Amino acid sequence: MSADATHALVIEGVSTAYDRANVLEEVSLTAAAGKITCLLGSNGSGKTTLIRSILGLTPPNAGTIRFAGVDLAGLPTHRVIAAGVACIPEGRRVFPKLTVEENLRIGAYQEGSKAAIAARLCDVYATFPRLHERKGQLAGTMSGGEQAMVSIGRGLMRAPKLLLVDEPSLGLAPILVQENFNIIRRINAQGITVLLVEQNVHQTLAIADFGYVLSKGRIVASGTPAELRKTTQVHDAYFG
Ligand SMILES: Nc1ncnc2c1ncn2[C@@H]1O[C@H](COP(=O)(O)OP(=O)(O)OP(=O)(O)O)[C@@H](O)[C@H]1O
Ligand SMILES: [Mg+2]
Repeated sequence: MSADATHALVIEGVSTAYDRANVLEEVSLTAAAGKITCLLGSNGSGKTTLIRSILGLTPPNAGTIRFAGVDLAGLPTHRVIAAGVACIPEGRRVFPKLTVEENLRIGAYQEGSKAAIAARLCDVYATFPRLHERKGQLAGTMSGGEQAMVSIGRGLMRAPKLLLVDEPSLGLAPILVQENFNIIRRINAQGITVLLVEQNVHQTLAIADFGYVLSKGRIVASGTPAELRKTTQVHDAYFG
């Protein structure tokens, strides 16, 4: 897949609330086509809420969310997914009583063609040889890092054009964290636009092309990794 210039995510003026008070206040950001864009911010700053807003799980009450020329804001989740958006949620959820391959197949449930599903399985197994070796194993008995691969692999089964990743390394051992970042880089190298939410500032800035810092629901800084490393907002968001 090539990095099609239209596969950019452009968010403008998004405000989102769960009940009355806004959790996101006029958030604007762009995830450039074919690039890795990261969203940094401390616990509770609104990162997952932004992903929920993009996915239509918690629709924004103002603003636009454009992907590949379509305004996603207000669309139901299945339409967002049909537009080429996939999400790897917080907590790397797998279906523990299903095998690895069954978990992957669920990711392609909207795909009618058996040949297309087989081709995608083949691609996912090429990305994660470990999953191929263990395709018959119950996902719940895989290690934490392997379950992360299952979760990411399931997201890839739809051949997305935009991948939203919410804290993939949370709770993983350092060696698996590094492996996760390598995987995200490889996925991006296939031309998939990535919006990466992470707490792991140093490794995230090492793979991102551009980043934003969210604080209390507002974007307080943005820039290249080199610029962000120098900003006090990054330090405040994590170490302040
Ligand atoms: N379903 C909900 N109902 C009400 N408030 C919520 C809900 N989900 C999140 N919030 C609140 O919205 C704010 C932002 O939460 P969010 O989960 O987006 O933060 P986050 O940046 O993803 O944090 P973390 O790094 O801990 O995952 C928090 O104050 C949180 O308590
Ligand atoms: Mg979160």
